[in-house]
Amino acid sequence: MRIFIAPTILAVALLSACSGDPGPEGPQGLAGPAGPQGPAGPAGPGADGGVVVIPDAMADGATMTGCTSPCHGFGNVVDQWRFSGHQKISAMAADEPVWTSAATCGNCHAIDGVERRVAGTVTVADGGVSSNVNKGHLNYKPAAGGASEVVYSGFGKNAIIHCTTCHAFTPTNDPHNTGKYEPGQAPLRVPGGTDDVAYIEKSAAGSTETVGTSVKYKSGNTCVYCHKSRKDITFYITASNKISSPNWGPHLGPQADLYSGLGGYAFAGAKYGTSVHTTVANGCVSCHMQGVATNKGVPDHTMQPALAYCKTCHTTYTGTSYNVQSGQSAVRLALTELQAALNAKGLLTRSEAKPYQPLSPEELADSNFALDRTRPGSNPDGTDQTIDAATAGAVYNYLIIARGGDFGVHNPTYTKQLLWDSIKQIKGTNPTSMTSRPE
Ligand code: HEC
Ligand code: HEC
Ligand code: HEC
Ligand code: HEC
Ligand code: HEC
Repeated sequence: MRIFIAPTILAVALLSACSGDPGPEGPQGLAGPAGPQGPAGPAGPGADGGVVVIPDAMADGATMTGCTSPCHGFGNVVDQWRFSGHQKISAMAADEPVWTSAATCGNCHAIDGVERRVAGTVTVADGGVSSNVNKGHLNYKPAAGGASEVVYSGFGKNAIIHCTTCHAFTPTNDPHNTGKYEPGQAPLRVPGGTDDVAYIEKSAAGSTETVGTSVKYKSGNTCVYCHKSRKDITFYITASNKISSPNWGPHLGPQADLYSGLGGYAFAGAKYGTSVHTTVANGCVSCHMQGVATNKGVPDHTMQPALAYCKTCHTTYTGTSYNVQSGQSAVRLALTELQAALNAKGLLTRSEAKPYQPLSPEELADSNFALDRTRPGSNPDGTDQTIDAATAGAVYNYLIIARGGDFGVHNPTYTKQLLWDSIKQIKGTNPTSMTSRPE
């Protein structure tokens, strides 16, 4: 059935398209008789697999470029993001399809988590006080004592980190509204000026408030909001720690704690160094988001570290992996030694249910360190172990290194020092995997 447009309406529409003010709407014409069957139309487009289809009306060169570069072209920003960890809705959904409204998860996993934190619109329960929420801090002391985490106050129920999670797109700078992209049109939500700070959770030793520790990585501040341990270990690790859950310790992705050289468990009397890596201009962003020359220099949103950038400092390195000077191999070796020592003390498991088993010889050999969790019920009589502060510190250090996924790249010296001290703590002897404690 074809629709006939009454001539008066068409005339008004045409006139208004060409001249200024539209005239008054004409009277509704009569519907015409049904016409004959028209010729077959052209074949429709193939399935687009989720790719944005550019409307025909925009298929002239100039406007096409507006859409494809730097965003919708093959391999450009949207594609890069699609292949980054940030687009994985389903990966988390399999584990935790939704969080309740009274949970903290949305602070880092919901689309508007960062927006709400920067604005300070999170829930601080139990009469607690939290001083640095708008700078990324999550832990606070409730009136009742202990440590709590601010609650996500939005409506999101699915895990997704999209463009608007990190960027403050508004109706005036959204390219879908402006019709074009100008460099600088994608401002970050998290302040990234020279003096702007973001917070990791750990407070300084002796602190009485959960105030965290500030770091300054310019645009890298954005990453710190999410990629850090959710624990303020200054308060979390106490003289006596009962391992009653496999979820004891830091959350996944605690990269900022190691990178900063400030977030690990510091053993009494030990001195900790840091790395030239912490001095790169934009912290995390310098390595993980180098500009892509073929895409207007816009940073790479796959978040894959750029080896070419490493070689601007590591000028004699000719390898094709991130294992510069075999630094990652050395860390893997030490991590393996610490893993075996902790497992021998009954402190690690990968079981999903009780009774939690220690790591099997196969698990100890597979290098999937990030899968390891703490093991409840590991006393000979099946009760939970209670461990002192230094032992808990060694477990904590193991978990932040295992879950960082960088094998020492983020802060080589600090990582190896934590490994040395932690192995020594658990085994009572110097590590066999390292010749000396790096200075
Ligand atoms: C401080 C920010 C933060 C908070 C709060 C947080 N997460 Fe996460 N979470 C992360 C980061 C970062 C990763 C990614 C780690 C990586 O891949 O290196 C992650 C990973 C995960 C994963 C694994 C996802 C996968 O695809 O393998 C699950 C599951 C998860 N989080 C669940 C939760 C739940 C449930 C909560 C609330 C109780 C929560 N998270 C709170 C930052 C956070
Ligand atoms: C996890 C955070 C994050 C996500 C998600 C993200 N970006 Fe970015 N984006 C950044 C950072 C960081 C920069 C670098 C900014 C700087 O150095 O000032 C950047 C830079 C850009 C730039 C160049 C800077 C400018 O102002 O013109 C564009 C364009 C851009 N992003 C678009 C997007 C689009 C489109 C998406 C979604 C497909 C997206 N980004 C998703 C963090 C993110
Ligand atoms: C809003 C919170 C958030 C912000 C901001 C954020 N990330 Fe993520 N990032 C995550 C989560 C959550 C995941 C894991 C998603 C999953 O596995 O389901 C992740 C995954 C990643 C991965 C892949 C990890 C893997 O195990 O495959 C990299 C690399 C990464 N992020 C780097 C960055 C960098 C660099 C920045 C800063 C420009 C940044 N992220 C900002 C939350 C965030
Ligand atoms: C000196 C360069 C450099 C800096 C700076 C840096 N990273 Fe990395 N990062 C790497 C390399 C290299 C890896 C290892 C990637 C691999 O082996 O696949 C890595 C690994 C990661 C991973 C795990 C990816 C995975 O596949 O498991 C995440 C997430 C991450 N970095 C986030 C961050 C965050 C957040 C910051 C800032 C707090 C940061 N990085 C700073 C180079 C860097
Ligand atoms: C700004 C210069 C600079 C950049 C960029 C840089 N590095 Fe480094 N890197 C250093 C210096 C200097 C050291 C020596 C120890 C230190 O300061 O941490 C080092 C140490 C290392 C180590 C430890 C080596 C060992 O002997 O154990 C590894 C691994 C490493 N870098 C990998 C990388 C990777 C991978 C990248 C890129 C993603 C990168 N670096 C980018 C300067 C840099």
